Amino acid sequence: MDEKARILQLRDELHQHNYRYYVENAPVISDQEFDFLMHELQDLEARHPELFDANSPTQRVGSDLNNEFETVVHTRPMLSLGNTYNRDEVADFWQRVSEGLMGAPFQICCELKFDGLSISLHYEEGRLVRAVTRGDGVQGDDVTANVRTIRSIPLQLPAGGDWPREFEIRGEVLMPWSSFDRLNKEREEAGEPLFANPRNAASGTLKSKNSSTVAQRGLDAYLYYLLGDGIPGDGHYQNLEAAAKWGFQVSKNMKLANSLEEVYEYIDYWDEGRKKLPVATDGVVLKVNSLAQQKSLGMTAKSPRWAIAYKFQAEQAETTLRQVVFQVGRTGAVTPVANMDPVQLAGTQVRRATLHNADVMASLDLHVGDHVLVEKGGEIIPKIVGKAETDNSKFKIQNSKFKSEEGAGEQCSIFNVQSSISFVDRCPVCGSKLVRYEGEAAHYCPNDTGCPPLILGRIEHFISRKAMNITSLGPETVDDYFHRGLIHDAADLYELRVKSEELRVKNNSNNSEDDINPDGSSLGSGADESLFSDALAPKLNPVNASFSKILASIEESKKVPFERVLFAIGIRFVGEIAAKTLARYYGSMDKVAEASKESLMQINGIGEVIADSVIGYFANPVNRAFVERLRGYGLQMEIGEQQKQAQSDKLQGQSVVISGVFQHHSRDEYKALIEQHGGKNVGSISAKTSFVLAGDNMGPAKLEKAQKLGIRIMSEDEFLSLIKSEE
Ligand code: IVH
Repeated sequence: MDEKARILQLRDELHQHNYRYYVENAPVISDQEFDFLMHELQDLEARHPELFDANSPTQRVGSDLNNEFETVVHTRPMLSLGNTYNRDEVADFWQRVSEGLMGAPFQICCELKFDGLSISLHYEEGRLVRAVTRGDGVQGDDVTANVRTIRSIPLQLPAGGDWPREFEIRGEVLMPWSSFDRLNKEREEAGEPLFANPRNAASGTLKSKNSSTVAQRGLDAYLYYLLGDGIPGDGHYQNLEAAAKWGFQVSKNMKLANSLEEVYEYIDYWDEGRKKLPVATDGVVLKVNSLAQQKSLGMTAKSPRWAIAYKFQAEQAETTLRQVVFQVGRTGAVTPVANMDPVQLAGTQVRRATLHNADVMASLDLHVGDHVLVEKGGEIIPKIVGKAETDNSKFKIQNSKFKSEEGAGEQCSIFNVQSSISFVDRCPVCGSKLVRYEGEAAHYCPNDTGCPPLILGRIEHFISRKAMNITSLGPETVDDYFHRGLIHDAADLYELRVKSEELRVKNNSNNSEDDINPDGSSLGSGADESLFSDALAPKLNPVNASFSKILASIEESKKVPFERVLFAIGIRFVGEIAAKTLARYYGSMDKVAEASKESLMQINGIGEVIADSVIGYFANPVNRAFVERLRGYGLQMEIGEQQKQAQSDKLQGQSVVISGVFQHHSRDEYKALIEQHGGKNVGSISAKTSFVLAGDNMGPAKLEKAQKLGIRIMSEDEFLSLIKSEE
């Protein structure tokens, strides 16, 4: 067999194995055999680039190329469904359908409502050609490259199937609980923000700019709607059965109902049964089964008359409120958290719930001992949504039956019952008076140089990737160092090498004089003794691989450009962009520190809030001393020579869209160049766009839009000579 034929054969075989593994859950070969065939195909494809096929099973791993999503108009609008939480409205729906069909018999296809994001897949000649998100229902994002990595979506349907030459199938992309839990665990370990629920995680993933990220995240898809001319028959249920035969993952839990009672049975069964499913569902969808009847019922402006979604109530449980504590987060935001008697809710035991902020707390009017309703909605942390109807806590307390967990006296309990629990006005950690910024719901502790959670937050911000990029140092280690007193602020990181060296020397000498130091302390006398325990010594040994990596990245951070240092020092409201603007405008830390409010406010993009914050930051001697220490350790306190020279205002006031793939610089580099020359990089083309910096393969939709609006398309070379030209 020649290599071309073998490639085709392998692709075909691997498509089938994928289907058996990811859709049927019934593989017929081992993972190892699968990998073996995959490697063979990869090798052959590498030798025959001319036979590249985006739908080859090898493409499931995605690529590191940046995806830029093209907007695509849906062939048929993607409507949403009317929603109800009310069982009577299900009966109303049945009645409306019956009347609409003038009493003719009908069947309702009952399905699970998957909680992900809808996707439209287009197939031509059995091949996946396009995958588009719902978007606004009229047009969505072309996410084909990302969707290709979802293994339960067939890229090529098996030959000989009775699928139409061209059709569309819609369904839901979701992240199974197992992938979601794994992803959040990884993110927690990496100190990254967690996804609130599988739907957010799936949607964030599908919109990822990098399809290899998508490939690793374990997305899945269920298909539930077949459209197009020439689809098999009149029955929606039967059509999906056919689609399942072609290789699509279709829910096995659909059911045809012949009466309203059967619909209710389905709802009741799955309200409980869904808790055991591997994916999140939030209700059931009821659809008239006959396509002809669907057509005769038609649509309202927003949704079809032939279908409705019945949403399950978020799971709730009833328990007793015992105490409200106030937590101070890393940003200084103070969150009220309820401690309650433990109760089972959505598969886990819950004893804490958030009360969000002062306004929510006030509206709930809570007292210790209240019976409350707790709900697990889309968020990770359960919340108290109100008082339970059975709340008779006051009666109980008046009879002195209630005792708080801390054993607080009866008097205190009665006092708490009479007045509702109020929000604190001082920081529970450091005692500072809390502030509430205009337009924000949260109260904040303003003591960012003296309150431990805020200091930790500042250190974490300082080391983060977009700031000083000392990412070999994770939040847990920072916490550990801080609590042991090794570091008190981010500047102390630059002393770690010296400190660890001292520790090593002292530890070595102690080890050789065991009897002199019987208590096991490893350092000399003084306060440091308790900080540098023996347990810590090996960890802080520069020979220790992970510690030496930390030291290396701390050292490396001294080269980080000034604009990121300015971002890293944590001036409230000075984000990445404002820091860049300030750095480029003033050129040095000293100039920023000396700037007046008037001077700051005349800069494009710097408003009063930022200006006040910058002034306030440098007015605080603690902050000034911190910055001086950083200077002493060798951090960049002014923009680089090259940058000074490379700057101009040739693109002043211009909005530039970047599109396509480039030869000479990366997209990020072009973005930086545009900004260095006074321009602004914007995401989408509008009448205000000055020009499009276009590389190869600029998306056709963008091109068309630019042409329509008469916007100049500039090539990479043209752009580079423009910014290099002498004025
Ligand atoms: S049918 C015209 N079936 O729920 C009918 N939708 O608001 C189109 N969904 O946007 C949808 N599971 O994202 C249908 N079995 C199912 C579904 C389902 C989840 C989602 C879908 C849609 C939304 C309805």
